[in-house]
Formats: sequence, structure tokens, C-alpha cells
Amino acid sequence: MSYTNLLYHIVYATKDWFETFFHGVTLDLWRKAIPLEQTTAEAEFLIDHLNCDAGARVLDVPCGNGRLSFELAQRGLRVTAVDISEEFIAEARAIQSGPPATAGGSDSSTRVEFILGDMRHIEDQGIYDGAYCFGNSFAFLEHAELEKFLRAIARALKPGARFIIETGMAAESVLPDFEEQSSHDMGDLALTIKERYLAAESCIDSEYIFERDGQTESRLAREWIYTVAEIRRMLERAGLSVLDLYGSLKCKPYKLGSRELFIVSEAR
Ligand SMILES: C[S@@+](CC[C@H](N)C(=O)[O-])C[C@H]1O[C@@H](n2cnc3c(N)ncnc32)[C@H](O)[C@@H]1O
Repeated sequence: MSYTNLLYHIVYATKDWFETFFHGVTLDLWRKAIPLEQTTAEAEFLIDHLNCDAGARVLDVPCGNGRLSFELAQRGLRVTAVDISEEFIAEARAIQSGPPATAGGSDSSTRVEFILGDMRHIEDQGIYDGAYCFGNSFAFLEHAELEKFLRAIARALKPGARFIIETGMAAESVLPDFEEQSSHDMGDLALTIKERYLAAESCIDSEYIFERDGQTESRLAREWIYTVAEIRRMLERAGLSVLDLYGSLKCKPYKLGSRELFIVSEAR
């Protein structure tokens, strides 16, 4: 085994890896990964399924650079958006303070409240008419923290308000096609992802290796793999009734091998 391989085999992501993962090149990766048409289609899906009237108050967590927050605000919702990445929150605020013709605009009726914060520490009580967790972010938290997050979401919602999850990391999506290594050419950025499935923990440890302008940078991540039934049970225990499970933005039924899972739930 080469020295590099040996290192790869003994390096694990820390439990709180996401506190330091989301800056610089990983944000570029996310910006490049999601085309504008996808953001628009996701926003339309959210509008269709959040069941909110104009002026309703909605929580976007984690919000990244606000790509969906801005879309929903432009469609008449009052959005509070939380993310742990200082760079992404700064970017979102800068977009918002730009001229009205830009994505965020500066029209006061479409302003989003951007908060630099941790999804593990949501403390609002019964104030939101809807909430969503998009962008494959649901798998960052291990079991106990995820349950705590879901309870906090349920508390933050008004009774009957909906919570919608999008994730590509449900067991039924990831495990059938699990690959230990993949390479992605993203214009000026080349990405190699090395992944291990740790069966005893049901998690995937990943090493993201970025190459750009002759420089190489590596980041470690850990994502927790839950089956759909586990997620459903966690939601139910937290006080969120599952209404629908979809396998695409076009509302195809979710099945083994579906790339994405959309769960629409409702606070009791
Ligand atoms: C893949 S991005 C998705 C962002 C957004 N949901 C979207 O769809 O564009 C994941 C985001 O989760 C944020 N994040 C990770 N852990 C977090 C935490 N504990 N609290 C708040 N945000 C977190 C990261 O900073 C990053 O912006």
C-alpha cells in the first residue's frame, strides 16, 4: 500500500466536519453543481407543496448562498434563511444589497432575513408557516443530532405547517450504485471523490480532492445514511406527519434507486 493510500485509509472525517468544510473551493463546487433551471424547478416544487399563502413566513435551513430563499421571496414568501458558512451568508447579503435587477434584488418586499447560524441550534417557537431543508444537507447530522434538529423544526412551525426535505443520501438512493471513487470535470475545477461505506455506523466517509490551477486541496466529509422508513419514523417521532414521498421534482413515486428523495411532512 502506498503512503497516500495508507493515509487515506486512516483519516476519518471529524463529527463536526461541516463546521470547516464549507468555504472556498467547496462553495465553488456547489455553485457549479446547481444550474439556474434546477433552482427554478425546486422553487416551483416548494411553492406547490409548502401550501403557503403570499406573505407566509418560511424557514430555509441550511440556505447556502440563498439561491432558493431569493426565489421564494420573489414568489411572495417572507423567508428566514440560516447557514453556518460565513462566506455563503456574506455572499447572500451582498446579492441582496445589489441592484433590484439581480437575483436577490433590493426591493424591501422581497428581502430575506439571512442569519449566520447552526441548524443544530434553532430555537424559534411556532412562528413559521413552512420550512425546508434542501441541497442534500439532511445527511450531515448523526442520529441524535438529526432527531434534535427535527424536533426543533417541529417546534418552530405552526400546527399544520409543512416541512419539506430534499436529499440524495437516503439508503435506497445511495447504496444500490455505491462507487468508491468518482471523478468530475467541472470546467476549471477537477474533482475526485473517494468514498468508504462504514457499515457498522451506516455512514459514508468521503475525501474530496480538488485540483485547480495546478493546486490540490483535500477536504473530508461524513454523511449519515438513513433508510426512508428511518427518516419517516424520525419525522413522526418529532411531531411531523409524512404526507408524500417523491422521487423527482415531477412528483414521480420514490422507489429503490431513485436519485433524489423529496419528503413532504406536516407539523401536528
Ligand atoms: C450543499 S449546501 C446546500 C445549501 C442550500 N440548502 C442549497 O440548496 O443551495 C450545504 C450547506 O449546509 C450548510 N451547513 C452545513 N452544516 C450546517 C449546520 N450545522 N448549520 C447550518 N448550516 C450548515 C453549509 O454551510 C452549506 O451552505
